[in-house]
Amino acid sequence: MGKITKLEDIVSLCKRRGFIFQSSEIYGGLASCYDYGPLGVELKNNVKKAWWKAVVQMRDDIVGLDCSILMHPLVWKASGHTDKFADLIAECKKCNVRTRVDHLKERVEEAAEEHTKHVSIESAMARAEDLSNKVCPNCGTVGKFTEPMPFKLMFETQMGANVDDSMTLYIRPETAQGIFANFRNVLDTTRVKIPFGIAQIGKSFRNEVTTKAFIFRTREFEQAELEFFCEQGTDEKWYEHWRRARFKWYTDLGLKKENLRFREHEANELAHYAKACVDIEYRFPFGSGDWQELEGIANRTDYDLRQHQRGMRTVNKWYENNRDLTNIELADEAGDFEKGPLSYFNDEQKKRYIPYVIEPSAGIDRSALAFLVDAYDEEMVRGEQRNLLRFHTAIAPIKVGVFPLVKRDGMPEIARNIYDDLKRYFNCFYDEKGAVGRRYRRQDEAGTPFCVTVDGQTIKDNTVTVRDRDSMDQVRVSTDKLVSHLREKLDL
Ligand code: GLY
Repeated sequence: MGKITKLEDIVSLCKRRGFIFQSSEIYGGLASCYDYGPLGVELKNNVKKAWWKAVVQMRDDIVGLDCSILMHPLVWKASGHTDKFADLIAECKKCNVRTRVDHLKERVEEAAEEHTKHVSIESAMARAEDLSNKVCPNCGTVGKFTEPMPFKLMFETQMGANVDDSMTLYIRPETAQGIFANFRNVLDTTRVKIPFGIAQIGKSFRNEVTTKAFIFRTREFEQAELEFFCEQGTDEKWYEHWRRARFKWYTDLGLKKENLRFREHEANELAHYAKACVDIEYRFPFGSGDWQELEGIANRTDYDLRQHQRGMRTVNKWYENNRDLTNIELADEAGDFEKGPLSYFNDEQKKRYIPYVIEPSAGIDRSALAFLVDAYDEEMVRGEQRNLLRFHTAIAPIKVGVFPLVKRDGMPEIARNIYDDLKRYFNCFYDEKGAVGRRYRRQDEAGTPFCVTVDGQTIKDNTVTVRDRDSMDQVRVSTDKLVSHLREKLDL
């Protein structure tokens, strides 16, 4: 199998074949924003479908949710994001470019690998004391930085047209909080019992200081998050369970094991809500060490539900403060806090408690990039280079290409009929233009696992060829068995 993939190869393939385009390209582009083209949207939808299937459909203990992006401002006060969700940055005094302090590298040696989690301001401060040997990544000047300062990562917006009902809102930086805010609703309207999970896929937004590497780190991105609620004391067991289950998900969908690893977080890099966190990292073809986070699995303890109980007790104060968060302190945990509205009652044990939460949080865009990188291959076939994407069948944007060998002798009509039949089951693509070899190559480059070709023999015996993308082998299949043949091969 092929060579080491370069990110430039992937970017160029993505543009050439309509996977991913620069946003607003006709206006010169908008930095770090990308649009998924006809093949890209299918790829991304398939990644989401595969996640939903594994996390929701195949499990009896997990239900789904789709929350709004805009939420009550107190959500973000309670979650800790308005006060703590910031990166520590320093500005180069020579070129005025700001960089995340934890991304600055030493002059001589390559610094430790750069990771993507937003570390707490306190730990970043502690590690950022000495910038005298750090290099500005923009102009190369060494050690000429301003004092580090926090830079808030949440985007703000205004809601409402009238002075008395307008307010500042935040555009969600994670989907997780919509799940915590609906914990009570789900308990009251379903039959879930702890341990159980609530899953959601959706867009999140962070005003990142440094964006990176194509769709790897963008300011608008899609998350697939599961909040799995369990009793304290069982949290470590569930943390282990989700570590294993989520790693397996990537390998089941074809990512090579040698390109995946776990990385435990050090105590000083944990997010403000986490007791423990491990990243599943993929070896991307960019960056200093290449290993970058695909997904984090965190033990969020009972932090979020407790904080929202405090937030719920703060609503009146917020109204009195003209719906403004400035100078608002969250109510404390006084009284019967453990039995509050976000607690859970275990019927059998007659016990009430605020559950712990294990959170696997995956990035859909970076997973899509990992699937692209991992699947990309080049090989020489009869003196010609063949570029292909060896996607798992569940991830492949198009499942079946359908061709007439030539555009005559009734072959296009038969091929069209086959295409019309197959497209009821799979995403198919019909192509009759140019030499059949070139049509195969186009589908190889799109990662299409199978191509069905109608030829002279079809007219005689109602069989077609089915060509396998990876081996390029062809078998003859009778047209009346084609759907079941492909279903079995595609596992659909
Ligand atoms: N919910 C975890 C994260 O957004 O990173």
